[in-house]
Amino acid sequence: MKAIVQDVYGSADVLELRDIARPEPGGGQVLIRVRAAGVDQGVWHLMAGLPYLIRLFGYGLKKPKVPVRGREVAGMVEAVGPGVSRFRAGDEVFGTCDGSFAEFVCAKEDRLARKPVNLSFEEAAAAPISGVTALQAVRDAGRVGVGQQVLILGAGGGVGSFAVQLAKAFGAEVTGVCSTGKVELVRSLGADEVIDYTRSDIADTGKLYDVILDTAGNRPLSVLRRLLVPKGTLVIVGGEGGGKLTGGFQRSLGAPLVSLFAGRTLKGLVSKETHLDLEALASLIEAGSVKPAVDRVFPLAEAPDAISYLRAGRARGKVVVRV
Ligand SMILES: NC(=O)c1ccc[n+]([C@@H]2O[C@H](COP(=O)([O-])OP(=O)(O)OC[C@H]3O[C@@H](n4cnc5c(N)ncnc54)[C@H](OP(=O)(O)O)[C@@H]3O)[C@@H](O)[C@H]2O)c1
Repeated sequence: MKAIVQDVYGSADVLELRDIARPEPGGGQVLIRVRAAGVDQGVWHLMAGLPYLIRLFGYGLKKPKVPVRGREVAGMVEAVGPGVSRFRAGDEVFGTCDGSFAEFVCAKEDRLARKPVNLSFEEAAAAPISGVTALQAVRDAGRVGVGQQVLILGAGGGVGSFAVQLAKAFGAEVTGVCSTGKVELVRSLGADEVIDYTRSDIADTGKLYDVILDTAGNRPLSVLRRLLVPKGTLVIVGGEGGGKLTGGFQRSLGAPLVSLFAGRTLKGLVSKETHLDLEALASLIEAGSVKPAVDRVFPLAEAPDAISYLRAGRARGKVVVRV
């Protein structure tokens, strides 16, 4: 089968389209004929081996343990391994796995759910990591509810584009923050207000927020804390940049500490990949409350370009690889 493979960590140049052996599903695994694979910032991190912290988390100290890139998947079940009870050959599924930039991939049964019936494979592939992370940020970490004022930083990105729609679906008044080229997208996703951070500062409105979801920009915790109402909540989802050792993680690590003295709740999010939340997201998608915002679809051979496009900050919403 064809796959996008790398032998060493590095820039997109280390990726090659190669013929490799088709995987066999083991116990509890499902073999998927991949139709589309989402591209998210995590794909770049695993390709580059940066920040170094991720190498300590078991992804491979000197080279990637899994040589095929890609984590979000949508496709058709080709076969199931021993012990799999929720799927059978022919089912259309979406979820997470290791190595979705390939014609076939094996995924754990509990990382998959049925593909929402109203989505194409490309749209479904955009959802598993970005959509589930946004759901856990909005529903669980932020506990966003009716009438709350919610500020979403990085609203035009992968996680942010889902978070805007989810916060609206949960009844909040949403302010999205993005650069000029993404203002229209963020508005179309349902944001009540959009701040173009290249033209005005997020503090300029004088508004305070019940919940802030931060997916980008690495603004200091002290700046974000001042934009919260008393007892408000800041959820740090992520943010690119930072040093080679910890990348953007240091704010997530510092948040609980600042929380102790701030009179507000500051927390870092570590999303969990579960089929229950994939199913919850699928229900919201099928109800019409959320729709993946897919900017561009690249063919498998151009997966390195897809990653570079995302890294250059050009993606409006999500980038997808068609297999
Ligand atoms: N905690 C977790 O479990 C978890 C899970 C998934 C992802 N993440 C992390 O979350 C972050 C976002 O992921 P993603 O997939 O959504 O990335 P993404 O698709 O690249 O989106 C990030 C967005 O932020 C915008 N942005 C950049 N600088 C900004 C600034 N100063 N102010 C406001 N917006 C800014 C970018 O475009 P513009 O500048 O053009 O607006 C872009 O649209 C990444 O760091 C990722 O690693 C964490």
